Amino acid sequence: MGLHIQHLLGLEGVSKDDITLILDTADSFHEVLEREIKVVPTLRGKTIVNLFYENSTRTRISFELAEKRLSASPLNFSTSTSSVNKGETLRDTIRNIEAMKIDMVVVRHCAAGVPHFLTQCTNAVIVNAGDGLHEHPTQALLDMMTIRRKLGRLEGLKVAIIGDIFHSRVARSNAWGMSTMGMDVVLCGPPTLLPQHRESIGVPVTDNLDEALEGADVVMLLRLQLERQSSGAFPSIREYRDRYGLDMDKLSSLPENVVIMHPGPINRGVELSSDVADGSNSVILEQVTNGVAVRMAVLYLLGGGENA
Ligand code: CP
Repeated sequence: MGLHIQHLLGLEGVSKDDITLILDTADSFHEVLEREIKVVPTLRGKTIVNLFYENSTRTRISFELAEKRLSASPLNFSTSTSSVNKGETLRDTIRNIEAMKIDMVVVRHCAAGVPHFLTQCTNAVIVNAGDGLHEHPTQALLDMMTIRRKLGRLEGLKVAIIGDIFHSRVARSNAWGMSTMGMDVVLCGPPTLLPQHRESIGVPVTDNLDEALEGADVVMLLRLQLERQSSGAFPSIREYRDRYGLDMDKLSSLPENVVIMHPGPINRGVELSSDVADGSNSVILEQVTNGVAVRMAVLYLLGGGENA
């Protein structure tokens, strides 16, 4: 049985069966990545374009690595060296790339809805690698994979997602995906960094950190996205850190085995102190490792691969 979706545009509306299939397949690929020879032939002959209109370290490199591990042919597109700089539109860009006979497109863009728009302009399979303030589905999938591998299940666990919720596509994808998987999600941040239409996300939202942390099995800190903030949403970085940042003092009041996550990149000393980020409760680098396996699973399942 395969996925019920043709593209991965977001996790809103994606079924529990589809998410479970992706996570189970990612677990198989995690085992492949432990082998001496980390390459399988499943997507041989497929060409995948990585169309990144926004900066990225983890997502871009792990997609490229996932494509190489699956024996696909990756092509990397960067706006700084492309004809986008001469004014070429997104539609013309994708139609010209498609004319060169590609199979799949992994896209990151600052505008919400671009992955959906691309499905209207091309026959290629589209995978969303982050679109504006909308969704970052593969990040949420790798987050769920990391929790499931660490705690053995998802259903019934409480996750507190703390920080700049308003600007976070990671928070949106996780809220939708984790709720579908039966997790108890709460979003928390300063009132000015909470979503305006809270009911649209469908999970509790609070500015009270103690309330959010109460009974949490997992605490996910989000990066303060200073580049997306046109005006000061809080008095100072120091005040933000004191109220919403996680340091050893606050960590000591949480259960001993609480799992600490962050999608990266971290503003060290703001949302997380370095001793917490690098400490024994942190699974931040496991998230990065699992990102390769999850992206292999998504590309394999959507790309029609065989014999994993
Ligand atoms: N987590 C994440 O999306 O990181 P990058 O922006 O480095 O890809």
